[in-house]
Amino acid sequence: MSLRLGDIAPDFTAETTVGTITFHEYLGDSWGILFSHPADYTPVCTTELGAAAKLKAEFDKRNVKMIALSVDGIESHHSWIKDINETQHTEVNFPIIADEDRKVAELYDMIHPNANENFTVRSVFIIGNDKKVKLIITYPASTGRNFDELLRVIDSLQLTANYSVATPANWKNGEDVVIAPAIKNEDIPKKFPKGHKEIKPYLRTTPQPNL
Ligand code: BEZ
Repeated sequence: MSLRLGDIAPDFTAETTVGTITFHEYLGDSWGILFSHPADYTPVCTTELGAAAKLKAEFDKRNVKMIALSVDGIESHHSWIKDINETQHTEVNFPIIADEDRKVAELYDMIHPNANENFTVRSVFIIGNDKKVKLIITYPASTGRNFDELLRVIDSLQLTANYSVATPANWKNGEDVVIAPAIKNEDIPKKFPKGHKEIKPYLRTTPQPNL
C-alpha cells in the first residue's frame, strides 16, 4: 500500500553520493525532504538539483535535511553533479541516492508504471522531526518543481505543528493565519494575544504567532 500522511517514513539504507546512509539516522532530530528524479543527465532534473542546491541555506535554517534520489548508479551521479555545478553555477551540497535496484523507489511508490515503467516520477516527501510523513506531492517528469513553494509549505508545516493555526490560500511566512476551528472564541485572547479578526464565526484570523 502506498504511503499516506501521518505514516512513519520508511527507513532504508542506501548508497549515496556522500556514502552509505541509513535514512532515519541521517535525519536525526531534523526534518527531511526526500525528492526523486526520473534520471541522470536529463535537462529538467539538472535545473531542479541546481535550484535545490542554491536554496540549501534556507532548508538548513528550517532544520530540514535534503536528500535526492534517482535510479542511476553512483558513478553516473558523480559525473552528472559536475555538469549540474557547471551549468547551474552552484555546488550540489546534499546527498543523491543511487537507487539502481529501485529499493527506495519501490518503498516510497515513486515508480508509476502508467506514467513510465522505468523511471521514478518527481515525488516529494516532507518528513517531520517525529519521522512522520507531513506532505506528499507528485509531479510528472515534464514539470520541474518549485523549491520556493516547498520552503513555503515547510514554513506552514512547522508553524502549524506548534500553534493551533492553519495557513490560508497563498499564505507566505509573515502573513496573517487562520485560527483553528477547535479553538473557542473565549480562549482566543490568551492563545493569540496579538489580537484577532472574526470575518465569519468559522473564519477567524490572527497575526502569525511565532514572530
Ligand atoms: C528531465 O528531467 O528533463 C526529464 C526527464 C524525463 C522526462 C522528461 C524530462
